[in-house]
Amino acid sequence: MKRPIAAIAGTGRGIPPTVVTNYDFPAMGIDTTHEWIVERTGIVERHLAREGETTCSMATDAGRIAMERAGVHPGELDTIILATATPDRLLPSTAVDVQASLGASRASAFDLSAACSGWLYGMTVAEGMIMSGVIETALVIGAEKLSSIVDWQDRSTCVLFGDGAGAVVLKRAKTGKGILSAYMRSDGTLAELLYRPEGGATVPITADVLERRSHLVKMAGREVFKHAVRSMSDAADRALDGARLTSADIDLLIPHQANTRIIEATAKHAGIPMDKVYVNVDRYGNTSSASIPIAIDEAIENGRIKEGSTVLLVAFGAGLTWASMVVRF
Ligand code: ACO
Repeated sequence: MKRPIAAIAGTGRGIPPTVVTNYDFPAMGIDTTHEWIVERTGIVERHLAREGETTCSMATDAGRIAMERAGVHPGELDTIILATATPDRLLPSTAVDVQASLGASRASAFDLSAACSGWLYGMTVAEGMIMSGVIETALVIGAEKLSSIVDWQDRSTCVLFGDGAGAVVLKRAKTGKGILSAYMRSDGTLAELLYRPEGGATVPITADVLERRSHLVKMAGREVFKHAVRSMSDAADRALDGARLTSADIDLLIPHQANTRIIEATAKHAGIPMDKVYVNVDRYGNTSSASIPIAIDEAIENGRIKEGSTVLLVAFGAGLTWASMVVRF
């Protein structure tokens, strides 16, 4: 097993208070039922950002708590990596807004775009920066306001997603704790399984784009499901191999929270029983890049992650992208 170079020093989450349950959808004009959503996805409710709550504000809330718990002052941060598919504006990055909100005056800051795998990509980039000696301390955030890009007229996608942020402070490891292995992959030939077709630089937003709603998320659900199970299973194996561990060494599996059926299939492949799997998709829906750091923060708070726990993290998302990591706490 490799000596850890970077370790998690503190975690936090920023969750908008408004809860929308499956039972609220019919009143919002969405033709669906609680039973359909629970049976297909396991989702019962999700938090949605309201006016004035932004990707930056949720990221800042999560980051501030993570820094307090790590005992890190904003002026000590060297870099802020914000994984997001829902930046508040396209230029400049939302990470610089978070830097300004936190008063992290010495920090570099940039957004990272890898959809639901974004936070694990960000952790891997931050670990590399620490390993190479470029930085000592990073704030790695996953934050999403997915309610701003889903099509509220498309019942097959709008019921799946939620808003929120999770953050960790990553520091040079001084003990045997920290990141033991990391793995990242992508397959751009499958980009159109989950994407926003227009509204970028190729076809900028126009009245026609708005009219055909092609700036909003489109997803081939069944295809995505198939690839998600395959990729997350592969990623779990790779991270375990990288850390020279087996599933028996894992105290907790935290998979990306998209769907309980995908989570169960991934756990089964990895040979990890469900009582060692963290599931909160029922309460948050799919929060994309925020899902794993939110789950880590909760798991520490409720004692599922303890001092010395070995945790396997696995993500999958649009791109397609997938990634995994083994962390000793
Ligand atoms: N309520 C009621 N009925 C619905 C709803 C809804 N919200 N949405 C779709 N249906 C209907 C469809 O219209 C269809 O009806 P039909 O048979 O009369 O045409 C029927 O339900 C079946 O639709 P499918 O799309 O085939 O349903 P499926 O069983 O595949 O479940 C789901 C759909 C839940 C989206 C599933 O495919 C899935 O979970 N895919 C993975 C999606 C995912 O996890 N994406 C995120 C991963 S990547 C990331 O996190 C960004």
